[in-house]
Amino acid sequence: MSDEAPKKDGLSRRGFLSLAAMGAAIVSFLTVLGGIFRMTKATVHYEESRKFKIGKPDEFPIGTVKVLDDKNVFIFADNDGMHAISNVCTHLGCIIAPVDWGFQCPCHGSRFDKSGKVIGGPAPRPLPWLEVSRHVDGNLMVNAAKEVEIGTKFKV
Ligand code: FES
Repeated sequence: MSDEAPKKDGLSRRGFLSLAAMGAAIVSFLTVLGGIFRMTKATVHYEESRKFKIGKPDEFPIGTVKVLDDKNVFIFADNDGMHAISNVCTHLGCIIAPVDWGFQCPCHGSRFDKSGKVIGGPAPRPLPWLEVSRHVDGNLMVNAAKEVEIGTKFKV
């Protein structure tokens, strides 16, 4: 004979435990199923391309110094060609300003000469020179994701 007396109304203890076990099994199953569905989707974070067009070569006559604020780049054109230098300080990422003798960071006072080499302050390395190239449509392009050696100029 069972040691559990059936109750007249409501659940017996055995019935309650059965329901609880079934509920826990269903929740576990759904959790596993959710995990499996989630694994089928790749976790990819797409980034905006760091290559951008800056215009036709005739927009940059010799002597041009142009600041592209939205791209954080200085563009220079001289007799040897064109080059692009990042205007993001290599110390903590403030935006540097051009001055007569080069560039100066307003945040902690780093100073860079006209080629971007550090001449003072806490900046640990020179300003990166960025790759300049020509797109097939004739526009000049800067690749902010690709550094080139200091002094590398693109012949227009
Ligand atoms: S961020 Fe430029 S010197 Fe600190």
